[in-house]
Amino acid sequence: MTDPVLQINHLQKKFGHFQALKDITFDVHSGEVFGFIGPNGAGKSTTIRVLLGLIRATGGTASIFGQNVWTDSVAIHQRLAYVPGDVYLWPNLTGGEIIDLLLKMNGTAHSAKTDDLIQQFGLDPTKKARTYSKGNRQKVALIAAFSQDADFYIFDEPTSGLDPLNERIFQDAVMALKQQGKAVLLSSHILSEVERMCDRIGIIREGQIIETGSLADMRHLTRTMVTVTLGDDFDVATLPGVHGVEAGHAPHEWQFSVEAEHLSTVMATLGQHHIAALQSTPPTLEDLFMHYYTGKE
Ligand SMILES: Nc1ncnc2c1ncn2[C@@H]1O[C@H](COP(=O)(O)OP(=O)(O)O)[C@@H](O)[C@H]1O
Ligand SMILES: [Mg+2]
Repeated sequence: MTDPVLQINHLQKKFGHFQALKDITFDVHSGEVFGFIGPNGAGKSTTIRVLLGLIRATGGTASIFGQNVWTDSVAIHQRLAYVPGDVYLWPNLTGGEIIDLLLKMNGTAHSAKTDDLIQQFGLDPTKKARTYSKGNRQKVALIAAFSQDADFYIFDEPTSGLDPLNERIFQDAVMALKQQGKAVLLSSHILSEVERMCDRIGIIREGQIIETGSLADMRHLTRTMVTVTLGDDFDVATLPGVHGVEAGHAPHEWQFSVEAEHLSTVMATLGQHHIAALQSTPPTLEDLFMHYYTGKE
């Protein structure tokens, strides 16, 4: 595997006595969309601000393109694009002027791609920024970011003000970056978005990464929901790795969850009891999230 674009090791950040980041470790590679998920206040934006060189870590290390995020931030920023969740714009400039200004500040210029993005996101670039809604301000920052030819893109909850149509345009643009071999860090609490786009995810809780891996890896750690109707009165609660057994509406109908490692045995045993109906649902990212956050299944 190539060297990671982003490498974070045991990163810590204290604000006075408050330890906002306790232990953050993960990396992001080229051609990968990494989902950074966790609820409000978990430490996503703080981590990103450290990566951008805006605040200094109080422990651990972080590097982008193999360079130190604090001491080499000027060099790093030449190949980095960033979109915050709360976009502040110059109120008296138009959206179009701001896009061009942001591009200029990044050493690039307005291109055909920029026009294309303005069209796709349906932004009116002739209006003053002060008239823009939150979604329109986000569009301005997204258009400028996607217009740049960076190697690493950081998006901090970028779609919170976008409608579903524009969210889709955002997702398509990110998938295009991935296909070009770019690296993307996407912080989000919108699980469906992360589920659709991300190769790997890291779950952050109270300043700590509590799990990283592919969604498939994580699903192995959790349980499949099963609803089954049997032909006899077999007691499913006697099966190994089965939890939360509840009787269904019909006779001999049961609902329960099964640990991944016991799934084959459970299915084989159920098969001996004349399955009349069966439905199984893999855990969604939301289930996983609840699992990690509440410690319950
Ligand atoms: N400059 C700061 N001074 C003190 N506390 C801060 C500062 N910035 C963030 N925090 C605290 O750090 C924690 C993590 O915040 P943040 O990184 O913004 O979370 P997230 O982006 O995951 O919602 C929160 O408890 C927040 O109040
Ligand atoms: Mg945040």
